[in-house]
Amino acid sequence: MCGIVGYVGNKNATSVLIRALKKLEYRGYDSAGIAVYTGEEIVVQKVKGMLKNLSERITGEVIPEGLKGKEYTDYENKLALKTDDFIKGSLGIGHTRWATHGEPSDLNSHPHTNMDGTISIVHNGIIENYAELKAKLQAQGVVFKSQTDTEVVVHLLDQKYKATGDIFKAVIETLHVLEGSYALGVICKNYPDRIIAARKESPLIVGLGQGENFIASDVPAILEHTRDVYYLGERELAVLYNDHVDLFNFEGEKIIKEPSHVEWDMDAATKGGYEHFMIKEIHEQPKGLTDTMRPRIVKDDSGKPVDVFFEENKMDDAWKTADRVVITACGTAYHAGVVAKYAFEKIARMKVDVDVASEFRYRDPILDKKDIFIVISQSGETADTLSALRLAKENGLKVVAITNCVGSTVSREADDVIYTLAGPEIAVASTKAYTTQLLCLYLLAIKAGKLRGTVSEEEATKLLTELEGIPAKIQQILDGKEVIQKFASQQFNKDKIFYIGRQFDSATSLESALKLKEVSYMHSEAFAAGELKHGPIALIDPQTLVVAIASQPALYDKIGSNMVEVKSRGATVLVITQDEKAFEGKTDEVFKIPECSDTLASILTVIPAQLFAYYCAVQRGFDPDKPRNLAKSVTVE
Ligand code: AGP
Ligand code: GLU
Repeated sequence: MCGIVGYVGNKNATSVLIRALKKLEYRGYDSAGIAVYTGEEIVVQKVKGMLKNLSERITGEVIPEGLKGKEYTDYENKLALKTDDFIKGSLGIGHTRWATHGEPSDLNSHPHTNMDGTISIVHNGIIENYAELKAKLQAQGVVFKSQTDTEVVVHLLDQKYKATGDIFKAVIETLHVLEGSYALGVICKNYPDRIIAARKESPLIVGLGQGENFIASDVPAILEHTRDVYYLGERELAVLYNDHVDLFNFEGEKIIKEPSHVEWDMDAATKGGYEHFMIKEIHEQPKGLTDTMRPRIVKDDSGKPVDVFFEENKMDDAWKTADRVVITACGTAYHAGVVAKYAFEKIARMKVDVDVASEFRYRDPILDKKDIFIVISQSGETADTLSALRLAKENGLKVVAITNCVGSTVSREADDVIYTLAGPEIAVASTKAYTTQLLCLYLLAIKAGKLRGTVSEEEATKLLTELEGIPAKIQQILDGKEVIQKFASQQFNKDKIFYIGRQFDSATSLESALKLKEVSYMHSEAFAAGELKHGPIALIDPQTLVVAIASQPALYDKIGSNMVEVKSRGATVLVITQDEKAFEGKTDEVFKIPECSDTLASILTVIPAQLFAYYCAVQRGFDPDKPRNLAKSVTVE
């Protein structure tokens, strides 16, 4: 939720901040702002809407209508650089917002300042006790300018600073009063050489440059300046000067940390010729899957895949004795968990419970120390998922995390981490993270099956060999994407889209329907195909598109009957299958996927659905990378 950045160095901070915010816009984009110390005062500019509005406000120049693609990006970039002519100073902080408290508006945008404008802050997260703090401050005469929870922080800081005369002490004292989650960046007119930053339950990194240092919510923001970073831990503070950075805990004691070096490069975080990140990331799936599986598949001398190896695995014994797997996640990652339920049951013959994280923690779940607890999270920062992880740990369970973000909170708190090596996922709608999550879960199920003796050597080799062939099969689907694009151009005005499937395919239906609603805003739902007749079939009419996902040969007859049932009631029917012959006469359109076993087909069947969602969004004139009301990383409950 929201991105924060900060700069202290020798360059002009304004454009550095705006360009860094551009890389974080995927995290929130309902308003943006910066505060820069000019040598005399802290100048704040903040505005409702996308980041481009901020450059437009500062420069007084408007990006011409009708620019598209690279032309638009170049113009936006040029305008960002031009902001340096208007606000000059080499210390500043910036913010791109996803509102939690107070509607998106100029006044509610960050940064927020104290009454005399000498302290300015940006915040990502939620201050849970803000109402009580605000009431107290107001009673003492503080005048609030916004409706945000964040503004209490800057007024509290102001009070503590006036009482102690020391900004660092004031920050520490303020943090001890705050409840909730926050990544904070603070600048103060009386300390023009530094930024103070703190984190609790919201991500924050420090970028280490030459004669300049940065804070940011995520790595892409600083990658054009440096690859050396500190991942701030829970309840840690950083004080950044242009030539060094000091780290502290919340008691104000100095701590020592090794910087990390970021291996991936800027290309991974730019659109690289594609019109949107979403379509770029859909195309990156063959590579992401290859990168994710290569180090994990063990081969014998003849090159035959024989086993699965996870670098950080400490839990072989736990897999042998566990009675049950409990999987918890949100959104797309939850859908990966639903596929995994079928995979673990089939391959490892283990009992599996899958839960949406926000439900799991409030229902007093029955947990056993012998259960293996898996959390799945692209960002590794999702608040609901983190709370579920913590609950599992409190109950003495071992936690395996599957995440795409090195150094994320989930990765640090879990007992075992399996990284999806998908590269940074920028588009809000998850695509490559999902398929790499599926891959890791399949690998885990094979490993568990081997350890528990439910999978023979031959079966393991067969499954692993087939997994190795998946990236090429996805490439084949991508090479034929025009069929899907054309179909989207015929269907994008449909009133309702239903995805149906059975077993593994019912899980893929969930993810397919979510993808479509997220980016195209078309009303889509998923149903286990057999459930149609128990109610949803009443909704079928000629304005309905039904997408049947059919990768389970044993159930072709059953899903075929469901297709006929909806077609005879006027729906248009599309089937996604590896066997088009099985559905002749029962469907209006077929997306054929390459041959694949029923166990692993879920990694393939979702690809046409991702493409369909993307093309529908584009046809309808929406930006698929930044769907309304959503944010990439949901760090509030
Ligand atoms: C994916 O398309 C969604 N935007 C969303 O459902 C997401 O999967 C969910 O918020 C979980 O995020 P995480 O994987 O970072 O924990
Ligand atoms: N709670 C703050 C607000 O609504 C910060 C939200 C965010 O993380 O973007 O302004």
